Amino acid sequence: MTPRILEGKTGVVFGVANKRSIAWAIAQAWAAAGAKLIFNYQGERLKDNVEELVAEFGADTPLYPCDVTKDEEIKEFFQKTKEHFGTIDLMLHSVAFAPREALEGRFLNTSREAYLLAHNISAYSLLGLAREAAPLMPRGGSIMAMSYYGAEKVVPHYNVMAVAKASLEATGRYLAYDLGKQNIRVNCISAGPVQTLAARGIAGFSQINKVYQERAPLGRSCTVEEIGATGLFLASDGAASITGQTIYVDGGYQIMGM
Ligand SMILES: NC(=O)c1ccc[n+]([C@@H]2O[C@H](COP(=O)([O-])OP(=O)(O)OC[C@H]3O[C@@H](n4cnc5c(N)ncnc54)[C@H](O)[C@@H]3O)[C@@H](O)[C@H]2O)c1
Repeated sequence: MTPRILEGKTGVVFGVANKRSIAWAIAQAWAAAGAKLIFNYQGERLKDNVEELVAEFGADTPLYPCDVTKDEEIKEFFQKTKEHFGTIDLMLHSVAFAPREALEGRFLNTSREAYLLAHNISAYSLLGLAREAAPLMPRGGSIMAMSYYGAEKVVPHYNVMAVAKASLEATGRYLAYDLGKQNIRVNCISAGPVQTLAARGIAGFSQINKVYQERAPLGRSCTVEEIGATGLFLASDGAASITGQTIYVDGGYQIMGM
């Protein structure tokens, strides 16, 4: 049984689409440790699915729409959060998108629209959400976002999403500096490949997975449960002096030169 190390804490979870979502694994780890959670869903299309899942934590588990490209939805979401919880301690950003055509073929052909959209949804949103979350964290807090190795080294096909992840990680560092004085920590978890809805959009995903099996020190990538456990660690007092970091949960692949 998970020790109740987040008892009395409240958290905001962005990015549950279905039961395979990384956000769902982190939410489960946080809830098992005693945290009370509030969820977003991206538009009516996903509402029923997310509603059904979060009911696992009790029929009254709050969830509200929030498309991260819409400032007014972000504001409304955090207004509702304030009404429910008053203050919060944790926030997960597990949100990304790039048009499918930008994730195949040549990076050179990435359009301005695809570039801006990928950065808007996948990187700027961390700043947009943190700005509303920080005032609700008077005791300090822990914010975390999901990244990928493509931010650091070239991963074929990852294209504009990789560039957005580099921006996300840098945004995390600048937020960590800015919010450090409020005792709010900001970190990224850089996960190895796992089969989720978003991963299906990446051309050559199964090939990437195979490379991890062949080359990662642990001979594999990672499971969503392992990502959940790292999310729990970053939320806990065990990580009280860790901020601005990118933590790799990838079977050790990141250390390899070849
Ligand atoms: N699956 C992997 O292999 C992998 C590896 C490393 C990092 N990541 C990252 O993990 C995060 C979660 O992805 P996942 O793999 O769990 O897939 P997922 O499809 O389950 O989650 C992506 C989420 O982004 C949300 N989203 C997209 N556009 C949005 C918008 N405009 N407003 C609000 N929400 C929006 C979707 O609704 C969905 O909930 C992403 O940042 C992804 O890049 C995934």
